[in-house]
Order: sequence, then C-alpha cells, then structure tokens
Amino acid sequence: MAKTQRIDKILSHMGYGTRKEIRYLCKDGMVLVDDKIVKDSSMHVNVEKSIIKVGEDVVNYREFVYILMNKPAGVISATEDTRHETVVDLLDMEYRGFEVFPVGRLDIDTEGFLLLTNDGQLAHKLLSPKKHVPKTYYAHVEGKVTETDIEAFRRGVTLDDGYETLPAELTILKSDDVSEIELIIYEGKFHQVKRMFEAVEKKVIYLKRIAMGKLKLDEDLELGEYRELLEEELQQLTE
Ligand code: URA
Repeated sequence: MAKTQRIDKILSHMGYGTRKEIRYLCKDGMVLVDDKIVKDSSMHVNVEKSIIKVGEDVVNYREFVYILMNKPAGVISATEDTRHETVVDLLDMEYRGFEVFPVGRLDIDTEGFLLLTNDGQLAHKLLSPKKHVPKTYYAHVEGKVTETDIEAFRRGVTLDDGYETLPAELTILKSDDVSEIELIIYEGKFHQVKRMFEAVEKKVIYLKRIAMGKLKLDEDLELGEYRELLEEELQQLTE
C-alpha cells in the first residue's frame, strides 16, 4: 500500500468495517488523525507519520500480517469452502480485512504449524520447489518403523505416482506396534508424508507439522489458536 491513503481504505483494511460504515464512524466524530477529528472519510493520511485513532483505539497499521496457527483437525487449509470450516473462519474480525491465505496446505486431518499471511512474495518464497524450505512433521505410524525406513527415506522413496522424493531425515522416537517419528522433508507434494510411509508399507494415523524453516510451532498455542509472528520469527522462516 502507498504511504498516503484514504482514511476509509486504511480503516477497512484494518477491519473497522466497510467504506460506508467508516463514513458513518467519521461523521460521528469517532476517527482521529493526530488527535484531530476527521469528518471526511475520503481524506488522505500518511500511515507512516500519522497516529490514527478510532475512539480510544490506536490503529496499528500494517500492510502485511503473518499469523502462526496451530491448525486443528477438521478444518480445511483454504480461504473458503462450501462444506467445511476453513482456517480463515477461525480468525477474529480484525484480520478479515487483510485477506490472508494459508501458505501451503495441511490435510483436513493434519494438525499443527500453519502460516497465514497476505504477503504473496513471502508465500512464494516458502512454497517455491527450488528453495527447499524444510518442513518438520511429528507422526504416529502403524507398524514398527526401523533403520531400514530411515535409510530408505535418506535415499528417497518412490511414491504411488512414480515420483522419487528428495532425501528426507527420519528420526524414530519410538518403534512399536504404533511408532512415533519425526520427519524433515524439503518439498511439499500432495499428502507427501502419508504417501512416503505408504511407499514403505506403513500407515500414518496421526500427523502434525511442528516446524517450517527454523521456526517451530509455539507449544503455548492450543489447537485452533493463533498469534502474529514477531519480527525475528519471520526471519527464521526463510533462513
Ligand atoms: N503430508 C501429508 O501427508 N499431509 C499433510 O497434511 C502434510 C504433509
């Protein structure tokens, strides 16, 4: 967004309502720029220099938002869906004006680390197959996961459509009738983790993404909770 914008555009972007609603807010004397009431909602304001208030609220203007969500199972990683609740439906109204979208997809039954943003450039960087951004998953797998599987994943396995995966790092946390593992992959094919285990004749029964790049899922976030990333966390994503 340019530095100087119409006040109604700024406030609708920040989730204060439609342009029409903001016109009324202005008429009612609720909108202040540098402590002066702004009655005209078409007035231009420099978002970097001016302090904008709506009532007692100081508007924390930003062009982009970066939200880390602990995705619960049962919601779709999309902006809209006709049948299911989406991750965007879980966000408060204050984020609606930003038009965020999920960066990549987790299956409906997968939990964990999901980034939502309106920064298309960052999303592109994180999703580009050339960048090989690591994604770490924790899973429960039916059957004993063994050293042979570690070696197979290290070499790369052949998926059901013939695709040869890049080398991946498998760590066994528990090898039993139901095993517990961590897996780092450097690409993001459709259902990749589940299909990699199918390639070694095992079945993933629980899947959670726990990190992307160097950034780990915040364990304080309950399923369905989210928060904005701190500046340094944003950097860890692409390091
Ligand atoms: N791999 C999968 O199989 N599912 C996901 O949701 C993510 C990675």
